[in-house]
Amino acid sequence: MNRNRRLRQNSAIRSLVRETTVLPSELVYPIFVTEGRGIKEEVPSMPGVYQYSVDRLGEIMDKVVKSGIGGVMIFGVPARKDAKGSEAYRWDGIAQKGIKYIKNNYPEIVIIADICLCAYTSHGHCGLVKDDKILNDETLPYLAEMALTCVQAGADMVAPSDMMDGRVEYIRKVLDNNNFKDTPIMSYSAKYASAYYGPFRDAAHSAPKFGDRKTYQMDFANVKEAIREISSDIVEGADIVMVKPALAYLDVIKEVSQRFDVPVAAYNVSGEYAMVKSASLAGWIDEKKIVLENLYAIKRAGANIIITYHALDAAKWLEESLKIQKD
Ligand code: PBG
Ligand code: ZN
Repeated sequence: MNRNRRLRQNSAIRSLVRETTVLPSELVYPIFVTEGRGIKEEVPSMPGVYQYSVDRLGEIMDKVVKSGIGGVMIFGVPARKDAKGSEAYRWDGIAQKGIKYIKNNYPEIVIIADICLCAYTSHGHCGLVKDDKILNDETLPYLAEMALTCVQAGADMVAPSDMMDGRVEYIRKVLDNNNFKDTPIMSYSAKYASAYYGPFRDAAHSAPKFGDRKTYQMDFANVKEAIREISSDIVEGADIVMVKPALAYLDVIKEVSQRFDVPVAAYNVSGEYAMVKSASLAGWIDEKKIVLENLYAIKRAGANIIITYHALDAAKWLEESLKIQKD
């Protein structure tokens, strides 16, 4: 008989042989910045997640800095939308204003700018639209302009989430030509067309007004396609690649992390958060235990960075779990 239980007999021994760790510094917290003043408004389908106007961003940023997490991902919620998503790439657009405020007041935190048009377009698609088709090449200059204005505002990294082909190369070129050669690109490379983004679209008011995103986001039946997407993005210059969503795609995270040498990020998305949160609020599951188990699973699959709405709570729970050795 193999006495495998020997290494499980108490908490101290279990800590000694633990194979995976999750550190607060590996977590990224998404933040929604909205136009207006004095606003802190909860997202109905995401309890505990709020939209903030720039003048109230400090309330959440103080917590972010105290928590020791690695970074924030910035999403803008504009007051006006149009067919070309004009508010996405203005120097004084809402994302740019939020980024500037955070850069000026919290210079120690890594600021990542989500780059996409869907929250800014009247039709809610991630690119320009003609005859109900989402245009690829025509969209690239707009994405690059959004990336450039966000970096000029103070973003330390850009994260294109639109899934247009060739956007990493296009953005890289524009950043390089504007003296931002050292600004990394975290590409949403393997981004699936997923119903798990539903609550996010409530938060960012970014649901498509017609059709769906299946002509540009990936089919959830595929994994080889994810490998092709990631290979292309690395060739185009992506410094970090992302798999999204996370929990239903652990096999994809694993495959990608084994095949490629670049850091892998996983996005624990809004629908995953909403499910955990609603069951916890109903008293059906133990939120803290479930969140830690999920984050360890994502890390165990091979992610280096986890983007999650649980980041602030999780940072606190992770620190507790590292300190307390007895149970
Ligand atoms: C914008 C974007 C989305 C998410 C991140 N960036 C939504 C979408 O593609 O519809 C999803 C994040 C989440 O669900 O938490 N393209
Ligand atoms: Zn989008």
